[in-house]
Amino acid sequence: MFDSVGVIGTGAMGSAVARLMHDAQPDGKLLLSNRTREKAERLADTLCACVSTNEEIAKTCGLIVLAVKPQMMQTVLSALQPLFFARRDRFVLVTMAAGLTCGTIRQLAGGSYPVIRIMPNTPITVGAGVVSYCAEGATDAELEAFTKLLKGAGTLDPLPESMIDAASAIAGCGPAFVDLFLEALADGAVACGLPRDKALLYAAQTVEGAAKTARLTGEHPGRLKDVVCSPAGSTIQGVRALERGGFRSAVMEAVIAAYEKNLALKKGE
Ligand SMILES: NC(=O)c1ccc[n+]([C@@H]2O[C@H](COP(=O)([O-])OP(=O)(O)OC[C@H]3O[C@@H](n4cnc5c(N)ncnc54)[C@H](OP(=O)(O)O)[C@@H]3O)[C@@H](O)[C@H]2O)c1
Repeated sequence: MFDSVGVIGTGAMGSAVARLMHDAQPDGKLLLSNRTREKAERLADTLCACVSTNEEIAKTCGLIVLAVKPQMMQTVLSALQPLFFARRDRFVLVTMAAGLTCGTIRQLAGGSYPVIRIMPNTPITVGAGVVSYCAEGATDAELEAFTKLLKGAGTLDPLPESMIDAASAIAGCGPAFVDLFLEALADGAVACGLPRDKALLYAAQTVEGAAKTARLTGEHPGRLKDVVCSPAGSTIQGVRALERGGFRSAVMEAVIAAYEKNLALKKGE
């Protein structure tokens, strides 16, 4: 469906998406461009892709992934507007910029081009991510072809655009919140005498195992917590300490703070 794919911005997310697309279609034509060219060159070497420019990608690619920071989007797209305008063939824009709607991307690109908006998270690099997506003007066939290219990412989930900012606050930002929790779990274990490497391993495996149990059984996490908390046991004492520290409220506030920032980004603040 897409004879060539271009990725503009090969930072953390752009390179992760480029890798997934390369894995899904190793013989496909993949063009990479980045402000600091060496970064695109390094990635191109590992993927046998072509180093390119924003302009060449805008002129030639059927699928154009915009992986620059939201604050850079206007600068990048305004420079490409005449090139998009001059095209006579169909092309699809993909955005992952926090807070920018499909409508805003169309406006910045200068035309009603088809746009797929995705909200990925960093665990896509290990095939365990979440990618919510919505679209404006893209056909079902284009969406299907696009999701096939990202099939190695983890969970791909279509979502109304009105919910993307909320999804981003939990799935996009969430890995950082979980990493804080992991570090704190390990610190606690180190304080109790466990070596750091073992503490980190046990913390990561415990978080992964608890998450997998919740996902695969469909049980409510509160119920799963109850199963671990035996009467007068140690776990309920730990739960008491977490509640005293305002753990659940702090986590909720973190998600809401990230959501509010997404809304502010949308207003250009
Ligand atoms: N990181 C996440 O967890 C996450 C999650 C969901 C969505 N996102 C979204 O993903 C997008 C990329 O974020 P990121 O974390 O990957 O940022 P990043 O690592 O800073 O990557 C951004 C890349 O864009 C490049 N760039 C900047 N201006 C450019 C230009 N004019 N032309 C070409 N390339 C240019 C930068 O090049 P230099 O090397 O010169 O700096 C950099 O490599 C953002 O819109 C963000 O909202 C990120």
